[in-house]
Amino acid sequence: MLINWTPVLSVNIEQIDGEHKKLVDMINGLNDAMKTGKSKERLGWLLNELVGYAGVHFGTEEKLMDRHAYPSAVLHKLEHKKFVGQVGEFKKLFDSGKAMLSMEVMSFLSDWLKNHIMKTDKQYGPFFNGKGVK
Ligand SMILES: [Fe+2]
Repeated sequence: MLINWTPVLSVNIEQIDGEHKKLVDMINGLNDAMKTGKSKERLGWLLNELVGYAGVHFGTEEKLMDRHAYPSAVLHKLEHKKFVGQVGEFKKLFDSGKAMLSMEVMSFLSDWLKNHIMKTDKQYGPFFNGKGVK
């Protein structure tokens, strides 16, 4: 297991924690598939699912930010956008056969998620809780 969801990663909002757990599962699933030598097609499918779900999840967070006029929304959305760009760039290379999944790529994905949750997502917990979002 590359990354482990523990309550340390909780942002204290049930829906968001649930989505973060699913992202953790998907990253671990992709890592397992890579390590057990699954086909490029299978890895590509899992990568595509991960990218798609990350987009859905960022949408959940950003809608909450917009609904409650979250003060740090601009910077937070920029982090999402940068990540989507980086992963999209990698996906293009992967799909065209110019890059493979590697430990480095997997570490990037898991480290990004962990750091983003700990440093950026956790900041909105108390704010949204104060708006009645639990
Ligand atoms: Fe976020």
